[in-house]
Amino acid sequence: MIVMAAFTDGFATRNRVQTQRLAELTTFRIGGPATVAVLDAREDLAEALERGARWLGKGANLLVGDEGLPMPVVRLGRDFDFIREAGAGVLAVGAATDLAKLVNHCIAHGLAGPEGLAGVPATVGGALRMNAGTVHCWTLDFVRRVEVVLPGRDQPEWIERSAMPAVYRSSGLPAGTLFLGCELALTPGDPQALKERGGKLKKAKADSQPLALPSAGCVFKNPSKELPAGKLIDQLGLKGARVGGVEVSPVHANFIVNPGRDALAQDVVRLVRRIRRTAFKERGVVLEMEIEAWACPDELRAHPAELSDEHP
Ligand code: EPU
Repeated sequence: MIVMAAFTDGFATRNRVQTQRLAELTTFRIGGPATVAVLDAREDLAEALERGARWLGKGANLLVGDEGLPMPVVRLGRDFDFIREAGAGVLAVGAATDLAKLVNHCIAHGLAGPEGLAGVPATVGGALRMNAGTVHCWTLDFVRRVEVVLPGRDQPEWIERSAMPAVYRSSGLPAGTLFLGCELALTPGDPQALKERGGKLKKAKADSQPLALPSAGCVFKNPSKELPAGKLIDQLGLKGARVGGVEVSPVHANFIVNPGRDALAQDVVRLVRRIRRTAFKERGVVLEMEIEAWACPDELRAHPAELSDEHP
């Protein structure tokens, strides 16, 4: 059952609060209801933390369960949406900033690096948290330090990049860390050349990924450079495999798409089970989730040997 999480009147006046289906706020177009707040006023951060909020960015890498969430879901708003010069080649960027806006800003100002993230759908906060990236680079490659609230803490703090054990698709900070912003240290580049590089990346993505259909991007981490998950799932003959309203994309096998926009999280969980079971049984490969899952069954994190072939 969904318990409505009330905020104080002051919070509700300074920020935008409503009950919403998270399907409206995720690119997968899947997910039940929650109390959703857009945190415009930084002064109210403490109250959101006290409520045990879940922090949502662009919802581009997320599967939300069909029952929704009992705790509030908070998106960073106005006070966290900025790009400011902070010295030669240094930018201070708020976590609510759209990553595409940051990429375009850097290209226009001749600041090299972030053009390698062109086409990645995310807020800056989400990209930091996931260390989102492409074949060219990862978000944390250009970061000097990040402003975060660590799990269990009630105050923001700055952490130097050198103290973050970032790896492929992980910031290295504990799960549940809230990212408020960062400082980027960038080198000069020719705007025209940066624009062309970013454009090429976006085109390659559009040519090889099902961008027109609702999805959460790549579902699984690549088990290794030699064996990308998409290639493996393709080799297993699972392109086009369907459960309920979802299917393995015939365009790119590491995407699960929701073509009718009416799929359930449960459908995704069952299809993921089938893919993980098959990869393990036929090739001995353990596929790990790349996308985040909220209010979904624990089996998404279980070893595939522990899963039965039976549908739940
Ligand atoms: N491949 C197939 N069949 C498929 C899909 C891919 O054989 O159905 C082959 C491709 O031909 C290629 C190899 O697998 O030889 C790798 O495919 P691709 O170049 O599309 O890259 P990827 O490893 O699948 C990664 C990121 C993407 C990112 C692209 C482009 C991961 C899990 N995925 O995909 O990130 O957009 O590189 O930079 O690291 C995401 O994080 O959500 C995401 C989509």
